[in-house]
Amino acid sequence: MPEWYRESFDELYSDLYSHRDDEESVRVVELLGRFVRLPGSAVLDVCCGEGRYLKALSRAGAKAHGLDLSETLLKRRDGTVGVFPDACVRGDMRSLPFRDGTFDMCINMFTSMGYFGKNEDELGVLREMRRVLKPRGYCFVDHGNLAWLKRHLEPHTVRRRPRFTTVETRAFLNDGRTVEKSVRVYPAHVPARGLSVLEPLRTYRERVRFFTRSELGDCMARVGFDVLRVMGDYAGSAFDECLSPRLIVLARRRRVAAGRLE
Ligand SMILES: C[S@@+](CC[C@H](N)C(=O)[O-])C[C@H]1O[C@@H](n2cnc3c(N)ncnc32)[C@H](O)[C@@H]1O
Repeated sequence: MPEWYRESFDELYSDLYSHRDDEESVRVVELLGRFVRLPGSAVLDVCCGEGRYLKALSRAGAKAHGLDLSETLLKRRDGTVGVFPDACVRGDMRSLPFRDGTFDMCINMFTSMGYFGKNEDELGVLREMRRVLKPRGYCFVDHGNLAWLKRHLEPHTVRRRPRFTTVETRAFLNDGRTVEKSVRVYPAHVPARGLSVLEPLRTYRERVRFFTRSELGDCMARVGFDVLRVMGDYAGSAFDECLSPRLIVLARRRRVAAGRLE
């Protein structure tokens, strides 16, 4: 499944992930605002998608900028809500098109890393976020909690949605860390028996690497972040390896990277 992330985020994304909405992003930005001063801060949303976090950040007074690889999702961005018209760029999170030390904060929300199948690339994303941060800038990463997923992964789900019916299958690969998911999209009213015999309208594939708290914390420390706080859900509860659905890390750019003074 080479480079699946180039194909899988298109015009159906907001239907397939409709529960990831503006209400959620407003709640998470409120949580973030408890720890970090947002008004006037320059914040980069790495993998901004359609920009629900850009809207919430702008409303909170931040200068919100976004980057995403999907032209389709960037075009669907709601430009009416205070985000500067030129504040979004198309690009790859492994090579951010910004100067060193540009932002007060970088965020990476709702499982928007772990896509590349190579540890070096995942570290590269964290390194890039660190590079574009000002000294002592903040980084906020929201990923799935590997231990929770191991207990709760649903191997097969059928969802009847307003516009489509979807059949999702999920499984861990042999590494015990990467989840492969396929989403088959059918017309809304397809009968149940059709789901196994009919050709789907679309099939999406995803392959995402998840982390334990210590793995993600170690990666962040390795590239030059100090981890300040680890939370386990969008209410800001303390992280619990067994019980927390999310792995949410707030970190700060360290002045010393890999033993080197900067
Ligand atoms: C799960 S979605 C999350 C979107 C957004 N963070 C949110 O919470 O609504 C992942 C996003 O990552 C983007 N993406 C995937 N691969 C990327 C890459 N290599 N560089 C930049 N963005 C990428 C996708 O286009 C998509 O918008």
